[in-house]
Amino acid sequence: MWALMKFIYRISRFSMFCCNFYVIILAIIGLVAIFFYLSDTLWSFLQLSHSILAPYFLPQELQSLVKKYGSWALVTGSTDGIGKAYAKELAKRGVNIILVSRSQEKLHATAKEIETQCGVKTKVIAVDFSQGPKAVETVRRELGSIPVGILVNNVGKQYSYPMYLGEVPDQELWDIININVGAVTMMTKMIIEEMKNKGRGAIVNVSSGAELQPLPLMNVYSASKVYVKSFTMALRHEYSKYGITVQHLSPLFLNTKMNQFSNRLQESGLFVPDAETYAKSAVNLLGRVDHTTGYWAHGIQVI
Ligand SMILES: NC(=O)c1ccc[n+]([C@@H]2O[C@H](COP(=O)([O-])OP(=O)(O)OC[C@H]3O[C@@H](n4cnc5c(N)ncnc54)[C@H](OP(=O)(O)O)[C@@H]3O)[C@@H](O)[C@H]2O)c1
Repeated sequence: MWALMKFIYRISRFSMFCCNFYVIILAIIGLVAIFFYLSDTLWSFLQLSHSILAPYFLPQELQSLVKKYGSWALVTGSTDGIGKAYAKELAKRGVNIILVSRSQEKLHATAKEIETQCGVKTKVIAVDFSQGPKAVETVRRELGSIPVGILVNNVGKQYSYPMYLGEVPDQELWDIININVGAVTMMTKMIIEEMKNKGRGAIVNVSSGAELQPLPLMNVYSASKVYVKSFTMALRHEYSKYGITVQHLSPLFLNTKMNQFSNRLQESGLFVPDAETYAKSAVNLLGRVDHTTGYWAHGIQVI
C-alpha cells in the first residue's frame, strides 16, 4: 500500500512538472508569435506611412518645370483659393500663366500681382464654365497658338450649403455638373492631343476628399469628384505612355471661399491649411506622385 501511494505521488509530481514545462513552452511560443505579429503590423504601417508621407518632404526638384513640361500653364478658377495660389507657385518657378475665371477685374488684378511678384508673362481669359461648351470654345479661341505645357483643372463648385437633393435648385445642379465634370473633361480634351504630339505635358485634375465616400447632403458634389478621380486614372492609362504626367490631386479641407458656409473652416491651422501653404506643397509634388492629397497633414488623414 505504502509503495502504491509513493508511486502515485511520484506520478503526480512528474505530471505537474510536465504540465508546468508545457505551459511555459506554450507561453514562450505565444509570446514569440505575438512579437512577430506586432512587429510585422508595425513594419507594414511604417512602410505605408513612409510611402504616403515621404514625397511631401522631398526637396524641390532640380529639373525645372519649364524644361520638363513647357513654358505656359493654364489654371482654371485661378483668381481665388487653390487656383490662384497654385498659379503663383508655378509662376515662382518661372512658368508663364494663363488665368481663367469669370471676373475680368479679379483676373487683371491677379495677373498684375503675378507679373510684378514673379516676373513671368500672363494672359487672362474670362469665362463662366457653368455655360458649358460656350465657355470651352471661348477658351480655345482666346488661347490661339499658345502652347499649354501644364493644365490645372482646378475650377470647382460646391453646394451653397449642405442640403437634400430635392432642395438644391435645378440651376445649381447643372452648374456643378458643367463645372466639375464638363470643364475638366473638355479642357483636357482641348489640350491633350497637342501634348501627345509634343511627347510632354502635365495635367493636374483637382478632385476632393469628397470622392472617398458618398456624402449625403452634398451628394452631387461628392459624386462629381468621384468622376474626376475615375476620369483622371483612366486618362493616365491612356496617355502616360506619350510622356504626359496625369496627376490626381485630392485635397481635404482648406480655408478658402468655397467653405464660407462653415466658421470652423475659415480658420487656418495644421489640418485646414490656407491655400498658399497647400499650393507650395502640391506644386512640389507635380511630376513626382500620380495620386496625392497634395499636403502631408491631409495625407495622414487618409492613411
Ligand atoms: N476648399 C476646399 O476645402 C477644397 C477641398 C477639396 C477640394 N477642393 C477643390 O479645389 C478646387 C478649388 O477650390 P477653392 O476652394 O480654391 O475655390 P474658391 O476659393 O471658391 O475659388 C474658386 C475659383 O474659381 C473661379 N470660379 C468659380 N466659379 C467659376 C465658373 N463658373 N467659371 C470660371 N471660374 C469660376 C473663382 O473666380 P471668379 O469668382 O472670379 O470666377 C475662383 O477663382 C475645386 O475644384 C474644389 O472642389 C476644395
